[in-house]
This record gives sequence, C-alpha cells and structure tokens, in this order.
Amino acid sequence: MADVTFTIDGQTVAAPEGEKILWAAQRAGIHIPHLCAHPDREPPFGSCRLCYVDVEGRSGPVTACTEPVAEGLVVTTRSERLDRLVRAGFELLMSTHDLDCKVCPAKRSCGLRTISRQTKVKLRSGDLAKLLPNLPVDDSHDAFGLNPNRCILCGLCVWVCAEQVGRGILDFAHRGLGTHISTFDGEPLAAQACDADCLACVDICPTGALFRKIP
Ligand code: FES
Repeated sequence: MADVTFTIDGQTVAAPEGEKILWAAQRAGIHIPHLCAHPDREPPFGSCRLCYVDVEGRSGPVTACTEPVAEGLVVTTRSERLDRLVRAGFELLMSTHDLDCKVCPAKRSCGLRTISRQTKVKLRSGDLAKLLPNLPVDDSHDAFGLNPNRCILCGLCVWVCAEQVGRGILDFAHRGLGTHISTFDGEPLAAQACDADCLACVDICPTGALFRKIP
C-alpha cells in the first residue's frame, strides 16, 4: 500500500494508506491512550473509547484505532475537549473495575495504571458509583485464572484465543451491564482444552483479569 502524508499535532507523518491513525501516531512517537486495540486486530473493536482524536473537517472526535489515515489529514490528539472525553471514558472503565492493586498480579504491567500515569487521571477518581459484576473468580485451572471483576471488556482475550490461537474458548456472555467474559456455558477453565504452554489470553489481558498461577 502506498504511503500517504498527513500531520498529527503539527508533526508530518507518513504511513501506508488505510493504516489506523493510532498505529501511525505510535510509530511517530505520539502516544494516544488505548486499551482495546492491537495492530493485528481487524476490524478494530473500538470499545474502550480512550483513543479519541480530532480530525479536521469531521464534526466530532473519532477513535484513532478505527480511523484510517489519508493524504492531507490533519489530526489533533490533545485539546481540552479530548482530555475531557478521555477522562470520562477512563472513569467509566474504572467504575466497573475492582481496584485490588495490592493483590492483583498485573501490578506494573497493568494497562490501567499506565493510562492513569499518561493521562494524569487518577485510578480512584470521579463520582461514578462502582458497578462491579461481583462474579466469582474461576481459579479451577492449574495454570491460570479469571477474575471477571477486574475485566474491562476490551475483548483482547476473546480475539487472541479465537483469531490468533484458533481455539475460541473465551467469549462475551450475556448483555448490557451483565456482560462478562466466559467459557461456553460458563464451564470452568479447568474443563477447557487450555494448556500452560499457551496462556495467550493472560499475556494480552491489560488488567490482570486473566492471571497466571505459575511463574
Ligand atoms: S483503543 Fe480505540 S476504542 Fe479502545
């Protein structure tokens, strides 16, 4: 694909036509907060709503993980309005996330902590009431576990298991506020054909919802 040239925050950037703004920006050293995107995940899921940018000529902000680059595009990643949107999106995610950092195995690799540092939005902020799913932790497998109360529904585990590993063991269950990640029919992880050599879902989980039980 031929390269196109455009600007992000006044910086001239070249990228293959059709590449998403998020990845072109990242390569150019311009960080846009994101949690649910992966360069190989097509189509992008677009669920976390942290990657808002402004594109000149568009009536409202667009998500950088879904918006393709094009010749002459003028992209802005920071403004008062965008900061407000990112703050609101992050606070919404945090309202459904159990903030058990002291015991969470994600610790320094936690994507939420990274976003908090980058955006200066505190992990414990905002007036939103906590809406935790209050679902049981599945600790049945020898190698890994699933704590749905830490999950932010980015779906990366579902994607990696189905599209990269080729198994499709995890999926979204139920709808609305009851949505959570589950095996088919809620069977325990121990009953699945998962082995300790895979754990791709654990490696890609940004929040410690899926966690390794063995080092
Ligand atoms: S990274 Fe764009 S919506 Fe999540």
